[in-house]
Amino acid sequence: MGKGFYISKALGVVGIVFAAAAVATIIALSVVYAQEKTKNNEVKPTEGVITTTKTTANTPTPSKDPWDQYRLPDTLVPETYDVTLQPELVPNEFNMYIFKGHSSVVFKCVKETNLILIHSNKLNLTVLDGHHARLTSLGSTQAPSILKTWFQETTQYLVVELQGKLTVGEKYKLYTEFVGELADDLGGFYRSEYVENGQKKVVATTQMQPTDARKAFPCFDEPALKAVFNITLVHPKDTVALSNGAELSESNTHRDFCTQYMTTFALTERMSTYLLAFIVSDFGHIQSNADGLLIRIFARKAAIDAGQGEYALNKTGPILKFFEEYYNAAYPLPKSDQIALPDFNAGAMENWGLITYRETALLYDPEMSSNGNKERIATIIAHELAHMWFGNLVTLKWWNDLWLNEGFASYVEYLGAHEAEPTWNVKDLIVLNDVHRVFAVDALASSHPLSSKEEEIMRPEQISELFDAISYSKGASVLRMLSDFITEEVFKKGLSSYLNHFKFENTVYTDLWDHLQRAVEETGTNLPDTVHNIMNRWVLQMGFPVVTINTATGQISQEHFLLDPESVVDRPSEFNYEWFVPIQWMKTGAQQPISWLLNKTETKNEMMVTGNNWVLANVNVSGYYRVNYDEQNWNNLLNQLKTDRQSIPVINRAQLIDDAFNLARAGIIPTTSALRTTEYLSVETEYMPWESALDNLNYFYLMFDRTEVYGPMQAYVKQQVEPLFNYFKGITADWTKVPDGHMEQYNQVNAIRMACSTEVAACTNLTQTWYREWMNNPTRNPIHANLRTTVYCSAIAAGGAEEWDFGWQMFKNAAIASEADKLRSALACATKPWLLNRYLEYTLDPTKIRKQDATSTIIYIANNVVGQSLAWDFVRANWAYIFNEYGGGSFSFSNLINGITKRFSTEFELKQLEQFRDDNADVGFGSGTLAIQQSIESTKANIKWVEQNKAAVMDWFTQAVKS
Ligand SMILES: *[C@@H]1O[C@H](CO)[C@@H](O)[C@H](O)[C@H]1NC(C)=O
Ligand SMILES: *[C@@H]1O[C@H](CO)[C@@H](O)[C@H](O)[C@H]1NC(C)=O
Ligand SMILES: *[C@@H]1O[C@H](CO)[C@@H](O)[C@H](O)[C@H]1NC(C)=O
Ligand SMILES: *[C@@H]1O[C@H](CO)[C@@H](O)[C@H](O)[C@H]1NC(C)=O
Ligand SMILES: [Zn+2]
Repeated sequence: MGKGFYISKALGVVGIVFAAAAVATIIALSVVYAQEKTKNNEVKPTEGVITTTKTTANTPTPSKDPWDQYRLPDTLVPETYDVTLQPELVPNEFNMYIFKGHSSVVFKCVKETNLILIHSNKLNLTVLDGHHARLTSLGSTQAPSILKTWFQETTQYLVVELQGKLTVGEKYKLYTEFVGELADDLGGFYRSEYVENGQKKVVATTQMQPTDARKAFPCFDEPALKAVFNITLVHPKDTVALSNGAELSESNTHRDFCTQYMTTFALTERMSTYLLAFIVSDFGHIQSNADGLLIRIFARKAAIDAGQGEYALNKTGPILKFFEEYYNAAYPLPKSDQIALPDFNAGAMENWGLITYRETALLYDPEMSSNGNKERIATIIAHELAHMWFGNLVTLKWWNDLWLNEGFASYVEYLGAHEAEPTWNVKDLIVLNDVHRVFAVDALASSHPLSSKEEEIMRPEQISELFDAISYSKGASVLRMLSDFITEEVFKKGLSSYLNHFKFENTVYTDLWDHLQRAVEETGTNLPDTVHNIMNRWVLQMGFPVVTINTATGQISQEHFLLDPESVVDRPSEFNYEWFVPIQWMKTGAQQPISWLLNKTETKNEMMVTGNNWVLANVNVSGYYRVNYDEQNWNNLLNQLKTDRQSIPVINRAQLIDDAFNLARAGIIPTTSALRTTEYLSVETEYMPWESALDNLNYFYLMFDRTEVYGPMQAYVKQQVEPLFNYFKGITADWTKVPDGHMEQYNQVNAIRMACSTEVAACTNLTQTWYREWMNNPTRNPIHANLRTTVYCSAIAAGGAEEWDFGWQMFKNAAIASEADKLRSALACATKPWLLNRYLEYTLDPTKIRKQDATSTIIYIANNVVGQSLAWDFVRANWAYIFNEYGGGSFSFSNLINGITKRFSTEFELKQLEQFRDDNADVGFGSGTLAIQQSIESTKANIKWVEQNKAAVMDWFTQAVKS
């Protein structure tokens, strides 16, 4: 899945499942649904439909019954499925949206059993033929007859108990018919809605990963149980049906009834259930042909007509070609479809051959979209296309290895995007977007290792919880490090061997290490140990080291880096929190050969320097660790920054700032030493160091923007940022031109954002004038797309209801989702509490703020110093509702909890947080459970930090402002 966004599951809301022992009609089922929905979570037998749901405890109880286990027994192996689905795009007479379907699965019995367990969730199977699902034998012996069937709700099985045993080696076919709800819950087979030409349109679409294929039809829903799927969609006339395989030719598409079409699809390759997709819409599309491969982009007709799919279409071919070369393996499918959906929880999903996206992750408009929007599209497309091989062709056996799948795609997305946009230097950005970002999480004692044990990941919510920053960003960071120290050529060689060897099969992460090791040996690459032994230390233990280099003595040592030095690590590690650390380094500007730190402490005489000379370690932050030096070396580096910063690579200028601030957070160096790394910024114009500094100063804002430190801090930042603001005013000819470089364009936004927020008069004048001009002529927006988010924010913050309401109107009218997103975030910049409270209320109304956007909107509001306490009160007051609507999810939920508690730095706030945890123990926190723990830990660390640093920071800022 595309990172940074959200998958959500309907687990918070208990799905009601019925086993119909009698032939029930769709209408009867609809009645039952409607009744059950109002009953809120309680399972009771309902008249007309006999439910035989067995109740099981929520926590796994020791039980011998296979249906109480979350993992399927190893008795049956699916081979093929014939699935027919018919979504109804208008509500039925009970005002419900439903889909009907039937499915046959052919499976082989590999161990004797009298039970068929097949995943099935929140869907109704109405059974033909009297009282049972239908089982037939494909072999010579007859299939045993069915004794009884029931739904096992907690473990999400349809259980078919047989009178006799299935025969090992024989194949059987299980046929079921069913009806399900086409809910707007963003999971399984669900519906998305939008308005076009004043008309409501409904799209039926899917999000299966990780465990929702079972919401669409009964299936053996584990990634290792790959099968071939024969999909048929019955859909209203004049709609388009899409699935993983190509639609079969016109002659095979024929009328069914009078108003329905039936589309059959080419058989899929052997694949996992979580990669299936079925979509019915009246979308438009554009297409191209790249060396015989059909590439299509689908979206709302208005978006296609406006040309918003062109960028994606133009970039897909080159990116696919790049990966074919990178993997040395041909694209495994005959077509590549990508589709933008109005409602979609994650950023994107790599369904094999039919990738689904949020609109903002696929649709681009040169006038309306910023360079950041464009970068996001290029990187997400690259991420999803990378999965077509890594993840789809070769799939990890179980979810505990998710980090390898997502970490890999999150690394190579930068390589693919670089291919699409070679002038951007986008590969450098992994350091800010992934390495630095995940350091923050992985430096907590409550972090966790990349790798989990298979038996620790059972329940769907445990699986969902793995879709976190550790899996994505740490996974990406350590794979980048590995590729760097064995060299990209060797990495590609091993990767290609892995993909070709395991195609259409499943693996565990050590299979990749095996193939990389072989490549290392075949090329005679010099490593201090095997790939396994080096990587185990990064994969099996959480956290990362800080490497300390004493350039006076040559002594170099490593230690587990903890943001809060007093936090207690109670998770044991077989490697004692020591790592094999590859050190790329420089001596006074000259690159040196790689040097490995394999022990807690070593002496490396080559790292001794004198005079003004300096050592810089972790060049380009290719390693996943932080670096500290003796004071003299720090001073020499700071002098170098001030006198001739170019001899330090730009990525390392960002690193020096980020490492210094974090070392200070951890109490390893004084906070004032970290602040000194920002002194040279008055001459710096590059994006990466500025972004790094602003990220770190943001922590100071969070801790101090409600205290007396705020004034001197603002004065200092203003002094540093004014030259940058004037630099951009110069190179843009008084804001009339766009800077050339991608990174420059980003830093122009920083210049305006910070100049306006520190009240540089020329800046606030600029943004307010622009916004006013737009209000006066709403059809002509004078603000360049790159600058919109920050200009809107600044103007709405300075304005009142008139500015806000105009922004809201423009949000509702936006013709492209990325423009709507800019306004949605800017509306949270208001400074009038009543406007913010009203906005918070809007997040509970899906007609105002789409469900997919609700939690991020609340977080935007909490980021605003005025909105912080309002958002916290709001979330506490509405917790049960928010949990039930957005529960079970992963990113969105833990992000919400972390987002609203970021400023917490007092005992009183800590008490409130602990109270909140205790008060809602019964409702629960689902995938946010870990996040609550992290927030409590962060709050405690913040309290201590503020106590220890406030006075010194106040002094430093006061003195650093030149009078
Ligand atoms: C696929 O399913 C359709 C409809 O059920 C059926 O007519 C067709 O024969 C199946 N195709 C294959 C190759 O099994
Ligand atoms: C460092 O560790 C390696 C591998 O564990 C060991 O063989 C070596 O003797 C150690 N070297 C020093 C200087 O401690
Ligand atoms: C560091 O990154 C820069 C910019 O991407 C690149 O030009 C340079 O070659 C890299 N240096 C090393 C030693 O990899
Ligand atoms: C903004 O600047 C212009 C000239 O640069 C000036 O005429 C105008 O009064 C200023 N507006 C505000 C609101 O300060
Ligand atoms: Zn992914």
